[in-house]
Amino acid sequence: MTGTTDTTTNGAGTAADAEALRTRALAALTRARERTRLLTDSVDDGELTAQHSPLMSPLVWDLAHIGNQEELWLWREVAGREALRPEIDPLYDAFAHPRSERPSLPLLSPGEARAYAADVRTRVLDVLAGARMEGRPLLDAGFAFGMIAQHEQQHDETMLITHQLRRGPAALTAPPPPVHPSGPLPEEVLVPGGPFTMGTSDEPWALDNERPAHTRTVAAFHIDTVPVTNGAYLAFMADGGYTDRRWWHPDGWAQIREHSVVAPLFWRQEAGQWLRRRFGVTEPVPEDEPVVHVSWYEADAYARWAGRRLPTEAEWEKAARHDPVSGRSRRYPWGDADPGPDHANLGQRHLRPARAGSYPAGASPLGVRQLIGDVWEWTASDFLPYPGFRAFPYKEYSEVFFGPEYKVLRGGSFAVDAVACRGTFRNWDYPVRRQIFAGFRTARSAELD
Ligand code: AVJ
Ligand code: FE
Repeated sequence: MTGTTDTTTNGAGTAADAEALRTRALAALTRARERTRLLTDSVDDGELTAQHSPLMSPLVWDLAHIGNQEELWLWREVAGREALRPEIDPLYDAFAHPRSERPSLPLLSPGEARAYAADVRTRVLDVLAGARMEGRPLLDAGFAFGMIAQHEQQHDETMLITHQLRRGPAALTAPPPPVHPSGPLPEEVLVPGGPFTMGTSDEPWALDNERPAHTRTVAAFHIDTVPVTNGAYLAFMADGGYTDRRWWHPDGWAQIREHSVVAPLFWRQEAGQWLRRRFGVTEPVPEDEPVVHVSWYEADAYARWAGRRLPTEAEWEKAARHDPVSGRSRRYPWGDADPGPDHANLGQRHLRPARAGSYPAGASPLGVRQLIGDVWEWTASDFLPYPGFRAFPYKEYSEVFFGPEYKVLRGGSFAVDAVACRGTFRNWDYPVRRQIFAGFRTARSAELD
């Protein structure tokens, strides 16, 4: 896709365009499966079927659920073929059983789950090879294939959370993120007020909740140049942040009292030093890295303590996409190019956020850094539909979650693949959630100047 207003991106157009879409879909599906295999082959069968946390499914459930969704959408719906194993559908319906109950279901064994997911994939690659990438909404620009690649990658992030929660020696390793030397950066960036285009109508694989593109007006605001770091968060802790009720939403205060929360999840103090457990390794908390594993309530409390607030979702997207020169909203902070390794810390290449201030090539035109990758960023906003929203292709992806009980997260984390990360991509979770790879940055309204 180019940066111009190219109206051909939604249809396959020529045979060459269709072939390019098939190639893109094949690459996305293949990359997802490589990651899934790494996440599920790096522990033994006992660990695949174990419940590492009541908050999570056993890894073997995610594996068969990935295959089942692929079968439902690509084998049955797109190709119109018969169900391969209709009797297992209810086991892998995410709405039928809460995560905590899934270990006691008669799930496919690790061997069966691997064979099932592989069988579905073999059939789907046959379907893909002959697929017309147009003609019905589900196939337009290969949407269904892109949706399923994103679904698998989303579960790969979920499985990485399970790996983080699991006890025992490290099962996964990865090189550290690159170090990008950087001079001192301004603390915050001024984003001008006025209208901008939020959401998208022409990003081919954007999911239903990112649509349609519409005009939003935000007042001028300042936003942190980089995500809030562990060092800054330690200052909040040292200043008694967790014991001062003034900073806390009442529900957040109740939660930290009930569970004796005094620090981000996975942190503990030893001999006056804060340590964290990260994928089976305990290490000193690095002060220059974005904080991760904090709830929305902790992010909100920190922002109040700092005399600031969380950005709204619209502010976040304007900071990430608005080009003040052209007035246009771009796909990513750096422009319209797909994410590369110099732009952002994505795709589980590194199993931690990069130092705050990294990725100069990924900065927005106004100089905001690390909006994409590293850590999901909590926003002030509830998860709500855009004007003109239409559920597609199923209500259970987004629509059933709209409402005030979920807060929006933006920008993706080190655990998200590029296929499931865009300037328009919206994630959501309960404000109490701490095991997700979430941090935040703060903002303030400019009229207070
Ligand atoms: C968009 C990440 C909240 O994991 O619950 C996976 C993605 N939807 N299977 C989730 C999803 C269906 C979803 N999130
Ligand atoms: Fe799912």
